[in-house]
Amino acid sequence: MTENHKLWGGRFEASLEKWVEEFGASISFDQKMAQYDIEGSIAHVTMLGATGIISKDDAEMIKAGLETLLRKYKAGELTFDVTNEDIHMNIEQLLTDEIGSVAGKLHTARSRNDQVATDMHLYLKAKLSEVTEKLENLRRVIVKLAEDNIETIMPGYTHLQHAQPISFGHHLMAYYSMFTRDSERFSFNVKHTDLSPLGAAALAGTTFPIDRNLTADLMGFSTPYRNSLDAVSDRDFILEFLSNASILMIHMSRFCEEIINWCSHEYQFVTLSDTFSTGSSIMPQKKNPDMAELIRGKSGRVYGNLIGLLTVMKSLPLAYNKDLQEDKEGMFDTAETITVAIDILAGMLGSMTVNKERMKSSTQKDFSNATELADYLASKGVPFRKAHEIVGKLVLECSKKGIYLQDVSLESYQELSDVIDNDVYTVLDPYNAVKRRHSLGGTGFDQVKWQIEAAKAELG
Ligand code: ARG
Repeated sequence: MTENHKLWGGRFEASLEKWVEEFGASISFDQKMAQYDIEGSIAHVTMLGATGIISKDDAEMIKAGLETLLRKYKAGELTFDVTNEDIHMNIEQLLTDEIGSVAGKLHTARSRNDQVATDMHLYLKAKLSEVTEKLENLRRVIVKLAEDNIETIMPGYTHLQHAQPISFGHHLMAYYSMFTRDSERFSFNVKHTDLSPLGAAALAGTTFPIDRNLTADLMGFSTPYRNSLDAVSDRDFILEFLSNASILMIHMSRFCEEIINWCSHEYQFVTLSDTFSTGSSIMPQKKNPDMAELIRGKSGRVYGNLIGLLTVMKSLPLAYNKDLQEDKEGMFDTAETITVAIDILAGMLGSMTVNKERMKSSTQKDFSNATELADYLASKGVPFRKAHEIVGKLVLECSKKGIYLQDVSLESYQELSDVIDNDVYTVLDPYNAVKRRHSLGGTGFDQVKWQIEAAKAELG
């Protein structure tokens, strides 16, 4: 009979086989939380000393040992061992190596269940502020680009067909608005992450006179969880993060899809900088928008992480279950994926060239001014439905002849309707079509400027 040397080994007569042990271990990935684990332990032991649950001297010794570990961790001097299963038991073992058996007092009135939840709240809280900072930078880059392109005319699309001319700045500001709401969602996510699970213990609280407000304060949480079962068993703060991240990825992926189109030979609306493009190993002429494609592609893993955790959580009875160990990798992966993707998108937008002439010229040989003509007739008293029909027939005729609305002679226009005058050509001009759209939130230059001003005020 081999003795079991685990920190929980007391009631065991035999040990796990190595491969079984490895299956149960999380140290290969939860070591990302090492710093938070140590900081949480420092808060916990400070509280144990302050409340007299352990002596002041013991608390000081343990705290000093944890501070040494933190220093060593930051210097890259700590190594973790799979036989210690997870980050919590690794740190406790390292602490024991550092200060001896007094380390065993650290786990008084605490469980790994509240400890792991605490670590994850600390990790995510830090990530949430990193994400909103990065989003702020992305939003600034978009505003700057929009400002340079208020009067850049491009085709606006519906069904990927030329619909009406718009300002490129307006198009960009649509994404600004999406990323602003994304940022707000992450900020709201802080509310549910800024709670301390520590002191919930395994599930039911503890008979020791702990001070959960003190540990919450020491760790910078706004307040402790109110219910101990909830504190150790829910992961909704992570689900919220994964779902916010998924929505953000949708926005980034749509933007990237457009950038990919825009730099194709067919569009040539933008040229990506060499620093954000790659070549082909066989076709010498290629310049590929790999980074945009990768952001689009990486949306898959982020959605996958959301679906993964939703599925893990479904049907879990209260309180802790080992299934919950599966909550971490998706969260880490998502946090790492979105933080770099935001930076890449900002870098790509900030360094690309906008081919303004090309954008404009693609609105000159099309029928995207057809609505202008219908509106023109309607503004002169023709019922809009009638106007729509007249213009529709004219478009059909023109396309048969291979000409556009601006090529139709005034004579022919006047045969069509006596309300048409020479000013029709001004109305048909794409630049004017954009400029005249003064309706609130429309693509008119004044409206785009208004959006930009509002954005600047938001960004401060
Ligand atoms: N490594 C575990 C996890 O990530 C820590 C909590 C373990 N608790 C337990 N009762 N086995 O969930």
